[in-house]
Amino acid sequence: MRDESGAVIRLEDYRPTDYLIDRAELDIRLDRHATRILAKLHLRANPAGRPAVPLVLDGDELRLVSLAIDDVPAAPEAFEASPERLVIHAPPAQPFTLTIETEIDPTANTKLMGLYRSGSAYCTQCEAEGFRRITYFLDRPDVLSVFTTRIEADRDEAPVLLGNGNPVAAGDAGGGRHFAIWHDPFPKPCYLFAIVGGRLDKVADRFTTMSGRAVEVAVYVEPGKAEDATYALDALKRSMAWDERVFGREYDLDVFNVVAVSDFNMGAMENKGLNIFNDKYVLASAETATDADYANIEAIIAHEYFHNWTGNRITCRDWFQLCLKEGLTVFRDQEFSADERSRAVKRIADVRVLRAQQFAEDSGPLAHPVRPRQYREINNFYTATVYEKGAEVIRMLRTLIGDDAFRRGMDLYFDRYDGTAATIEEFVACFAEASGRDLGHFAQWYEQAGTPTVNARGHYDAEAKTYRLALTQVTPPTPGQPEKAPQVIPIRLGLVGGSGTEIALSPAATAGHMPGVFVLDGPSATLTFTNVPEKPVPSLLRGFSAPVRLEIDLEEDELLVLFRYDSDAFNQWQSAQTVATRAILRAVGAGTPPAPDRRMADALRHFLSMRAGSDPAFAAQVLALPTEADIAREIGHDVDPDAVHRARQLVKVELGAALAAELAELYSQLSSREPYVPDAAGAGRRALRNACLDLFAAGRPAEGEELAMRQFRDADNMTDRFAALGVLSHLPGAARETALAEFSERFRNNALVLDKWFSLQAMIPEPETLERLRGLMRHPAFSMGNPNRVRSLIGSFAMANLTQFNRADGAGYDFVADMVLALDARNPQVAARLLTAFRTWKMLEPRRRAEAEKALRRVAGTPGLSPDVADISGRSLS
Ligand code: BES
Ligand code: ZN
Repeated sequence: MRDESGAVIRLEDYRPTDYLIDRAELDIRLDRHATRILAKLHLRANPAGRPAVPLVLDGDELRLVSLAIDDVPAAPEAFEASPERLVIHAPPAQPFTLTIETEIDPTANTKLMGLYRSGSAYCTQCEAEGFRRITYFLDRPDVLSVFTTRIEADRDEAPVLLGNGNPVAAGDAGGGRHFAIWHDPFPKPCYLFAIVGGRLDKVADRFTTMSGRAVEVAVYVEPGKAEDATYALDALKRSMAWDERVFGREYDLDVFNVVAVSDFNMGAMENKGLNIFNDKYVLASAETATDADYANIEAIIAHEYFHNWTGNRITCRDWFQLCLKEGLTVFRDQEFSADERSRAVKRIADVRVLRAQQFAEDSGPLAHPVRPRQYREINNFYTATVYEKGAEVIRMLRTLIGDDAFRRGMDLYFDRYDGTAATIEEFVACFAEASGRDLGHFAQWYEQAGTPTVNARGHYDAEAKTYRLALTQVTPPTPGQPEKAPQVIPIRLGLVGGSGTEIALSPAATAGHMPGVFVLDGPSATLTFTNVPEKPVPSLLRGFSAPVRLEIDLEEDELLVLFRYDSDAFNQWQSAQTVATRAILRAVGAGTPPAPDRRMADALRHFLSMRAGSDPAFAAQVLALPTEADIAREIGHDVDPDAVHRARQLVKVELGAALAAELAELYSQLSSREPYVPDAAGAGRRALRNACLDLFAAGRPAEGEELAMRQFRDADNMTDRFAALGVLSHLPGAARETALAEFSERFRNNALVLDKWFSLQAMIPEPETLERLRGLMRHPAFSMGNPNRVRSLIGSFAMANLTQFNRADGAGYDFVADMVLALDARNPQVAARLLTAFRTWKMLEPRRRAEAEKALRRVAGTPGLSPDVADISGRSLS
């Protein structure tokens, strides 16, 4: 393996390279089994490095064919080459060139890192350390080079040849071959390098930038699928316009290409001018993609495009600074989607993801700071903490200093660090300067792991008309950080009167901060509000202003006041979730149906009558009960997933029965015969209608099944068809099996749709699911070699089937452990990700905990593990 296992990379050990590579000229001759790469590198000593030391270039599974120094073949004693390294013992003192010829086999590349084949196309994935699988290089983000790339291939096999930057030449290469030359004038780290070669169709358009430059934009897909890429192309143009409007950032090359491939480890990659995408996040049609798929495509197209400034023009000094590009770019794509769709609904969706992924990570053995201090395998640090919490930290920064200072800080950052590889310190300093604020303590969010709990207690003095709010914070220990310091927590807040009036906040209460925001930066604080005419209900953490858990013991009636009246939509939703969570927790405790909760049903009924028509997308979020994982996290320890499932089901059945009439009525009102359009308004109506169907079917299973079956068969779009199938999948019996069979027959030629079918079945909360899964692995469409297939079938089971992955007999763990080991030999990155399903094992009840630990130990003890899986299994057990 590439790293001696156990090698730890530490932030404090950072030092600049001893050499720089100013220019890289690559000549890549594509061949299925023997691709030759001729790399001419223009090097010089780094003034910031050590003088006259050997040059050590990174490699990974490389074979050196030839080597020349300053165009003279290198003497054997002048260098040492292994698959992992090329060492030049005594490089010339003056700037020099190395001409390195390597040969690789793209067909044998099952790790999907470096240059590989996806279907009949050639493509690359270089982040984080894949470029070293193409040629020897200083494969780290602080080495910026200007790349010129000549690509040559068989004309029939690969009529389309794409590279980074602008196309500069193309022509015939003789013998049925042709070539294209691409030049990227922007110095970049090699992780942003990419090429594509293949037989591809495209949709193309022209985008005129704010300064009037014309850019050719195109999306390339498998032949015959161009039509399905038009939504992605449209999302791209909207992203380009948004970045100009909101951040003042203009695109900088003559072309911008997106290529969709079907074998891809991640979602997508921001290679300069040549983004490469998992086709799942490009291809969409009404018949094959859901509204959620469309929203994902829009968000990911935007994300990768936005990297052009946050990641590419300004990159990371080292991989510890990963959140500098990823957290910031997630923040930017979230803002984009909020602007394009509904801000409140987007916020709720993002917080759901944050809690499900990041809070789970943060409370278990894999917890780490937004900027980690050490790693063994960098691929394992593309995490919810780096991404989602990284985005929250930036959102808090904006809340603290205000929109204007935030924008000035961003401008300063772009100005000052354009063309460089920057650090978090440099980034934060821009905002300190722009706002005149000391952000030293705030920056601790990058260093300290764990989710703070904020506790709030209110007291109203009717005589003095004052309201006092006592706040405390505490962060539980995480691996390697036993002691925690208080964080800087912006708490956006308001006081709501019993009949819904927003009570004016006395200015003294939040003095020195942005209006309506209190900043808790010590272990505790007390706020006093004066002139409060009645006992208020506090609305805290509005808009989820900080990534913390909030403890506040409001009465159910008080929560319902917020649900009904809060001017903050997030807290309206949150209070409904809290009421539902409490009902489910009571049912877990009792083990029997709780006394029917009339108030909750009444409140929902009233809410639907007021809001279903005007804000269906929001109403759909309100109707969605907290997930089993949400409830498990709330319980926190000794969790019995079966008890959680039963309790949630009881509450759902009860609520569905209580609201059956209203749900059925709303369902039919929302039925539309208009043709499908994947816009936010239509998506909102469909989301609410399908939420109604789901809840109705829980309360009235027989009628629900009939309704779902009818919708399943009559739907003219995937959103409605798949939602109906989802409802049916939870109702055991013949109808479910019939629908599943009809679905797979109808879409037998569409792998991306079959992924939905795999995933749905993997999530059925029944003991038979494991057997079903084993059967599905033999389905002709399934393959362990394709990451999308693996994630949809095995990943959905491990990550989204709480009761069956966590079977009391341990069979779920054993199955996933077997799959991780089987995959590891082929694709360690995907295997390691699958293994993170165990990240919450410590909060289970003792029997399951023991079974999970046994499975983890079996993985950890297997000889010959990849560094990826060794790292995750090792840390999970610590
Ligand atoms: N730079 C990443 C892609 C990446 C991730 C490369 C991990 C190497 C290792 C890209 O910008 C990214 O973040 N993609 C996300 C989707 C995004 C919308 C959050 C992904 O692939 O999941
Ligand atoms: Zn990214």
